[in-house]
Amino acid sequence: MCGIVGYIGVKPVKKILIDGLRELEYRGYDSAGIAVLQEGHFSLFKAVGKLVNLEEKAQNYESTGFSVGIGHTRWATHGKPTELNAHPHLGQNSYVVHNGIIENYQELKTMLTAQGIQFLSQTDTEVIVHLFEYQLKTAATPFEAFQQTLSQLHGAYAILLVNADAEGTIFFAKHGSPMIIGRNRENETLFGSSDAALIGKCHEVIYLEDGHYGYASADSVALFDENNNPVVLRYTPLSENKLSAQKEGFRFFMEKEIYEQSRVLADTLLGRLRDESIYFEELDNNLFEGINEIKLCACGTSYHAALVASYLFERHSKIRVSVEIASEFRYREPFLTADTLFIVISQSGETADTLESLKMAKRSGLKTMVICNVDNSSMVRLADASILTRAGIEKGVASTKAFATQVCVLWMLSLFLGGARKTLATEEIKRQIHLLRALPSTVNVENVLHEQLRRLSKRYLHGHGFFFIGRDVFYPLALEGALKLKEISYLHAEGYPSGEMKHGPIALADPELFTIALLPQHMLYDKTKSNIEELSARDSTICSISPLDFDKADDHIRTHLHEDYMLEFFEMMVVLQLLSMEIAIRLGNDVDMPRNLAKSVTVE
Ligand code: F6R
Repeated sequence: MCGIVGYIGVKPVKKILIDGLRELEYRGYDSAGIAVLQEGHFSLFKAVGKLVNLEEKAQNYESTGFSVGIGHTRWATHGKPTELNAHPHLGQNSYVVHNGIIENYQELKTMLTAQGIQFLSQTDTEVIVHLFEYQLKTAATPFEAFQQTLSQLHGAYAILLVNADAEGTIFFAKHGSPMIIGRNRENETLFGSSDAALIGKCHEVIYLEDGHYGYASADSVALFDENNNPVVLRYTPLSENKLSAQKEGFRFFMEKEIYEQSRVLADTLLGRLRDESIYFEELDNNLFEGINEIKLCACGTSYHAALVASYLFERHSKIRVSVEIASEFRYREPFLTADTLFIVISQSGETADTLESLKMAKRSGLKTMVICNVDNSSMVRLADASILTRAGIEKGVASTKAFATQVCVLWMLSLFLGGARKTLATEEIKRQIHLLRALPSTVNVENVLHEQLRRLSKRYLHGHGFFFIGRDVFYPLALEGALKLKEISYLHAEGYPSGEMKHGPIALADPELFTIALLPQHMLYDKTKSNIEELSARDSTICSISPLDFDKADDHIRTHLHEDYMLEFFEMMVVLQLLSMEIAIRLGNDVDMPRNLAKSVTVE
């Protein structure tokens, strides 16, 4: 993951780098650093922990006049989050920042160490700068040394490198990790691993492709492809309005994003609901021609949305559906047939495993689609078709509104397909469109509910674990509830299909085992109720969530009566999100930036 920024120009560089890193901090926040080259002299600042620590370290530094700077916010892969392991990494005369993993770094390190080169950190990144300087001894130019360096690196990377002998220049490369070059009307060049770092500072950007590399000065860029052929620069306009998210009075971004779900769901529905059909402007009718199977592929929360879709697609459009965890799919030599539509789901559009799975599907000749929240992301650019989820910027590391909009889009897509394949009667599509229209009000957070959950959270701070249970689409919702709780409270939680408890997990039941039970009125109510009773009989502490009374529960969260299970799903989703958040707040955790996590996982 990690966030990268770069700048060449005359403005005060520290502010530009740190402002850019602030936009990228969600990508990793265990350490950060900046290096600035000015008049042949390097200044370097690094700090462990959040960006404020780096700001403090660099508070007395200001540049004047022309300078070149690179910065990095880290999510540790190789080596602990220490100052030595923080980027930029230095050689004799150069600095580098890197996002990704250099898979052959041990071999390279051994080779360089044998040449007498000393390493200061435990990172894979440090080999890049030493390899570059090693090549520089024999190369005709620093750029040639950079090319030779890249030719020896295996793995995924986005790299910025600055060398004192090539002052005014940043060498860059992208292979598997995102990198964007921006320019503005003041003859400045900027780099970012996401356009969020460039908004408001650049009016045009180039989204680099894998294999692209080159060098840039303040007013020019030389770009090459993987075969060393020059690439024509194609800039795309970038919105100049800074849309960066603010907490707007909420305690955490996560809280704000839970409250925002009503609005973003309304945005996601906008223009897509007709009286008797679903309309996706972005979809070509041919996309589904000859398709007999859908494969959904994703990671984490997006994977849970895919699981929900597998129920809806089969139920509504009578098509064979399989769901894949991207990190597994990549390496299990899957059997793929041309009549399969491959759909990836991703909030960021940059998750390394999902992106690679998409590339694999394309290479195998499958039609591909992405359901994504970030326009222009790598997946959106790569897939044959894309549907945007319109959740807006999601800052909280624990995904909430992105999940809600993913499920909403997938639900609409299941109806769209049901209509196209004539497996759903028009009357049924109309009925479900009516339900979809009710989504924004269904997820509205009522004060009384939030207050109840705030009070209830006191009782669920210890114990030896949580089971989240549900059936049908409420099973993936249970998985999602457990993931939310784990991520931000660091308490152990597992999601299970309710009917599966008696096949093993029920052995754990005792009063210190908390069961959060999803008991919707319109989906297998009696069956689920029996499953919960079995747990209650074995003394598990039960917190049930249901619109109907349930006298076996220790705590009961009453949801509204709805006419369909999908509306119950969305209301219960909000309950689970708020409950996790309130527990994490009581435990004093940083809800928006939980330990060990990063928002965008661009390494495998
Ligand atoms: C959990 C969470 C992660 C992401 C996962 C995939 O709250 O956010 O599990 O869902 O890392 O990320 P995207 O959707 O960006 O591909």
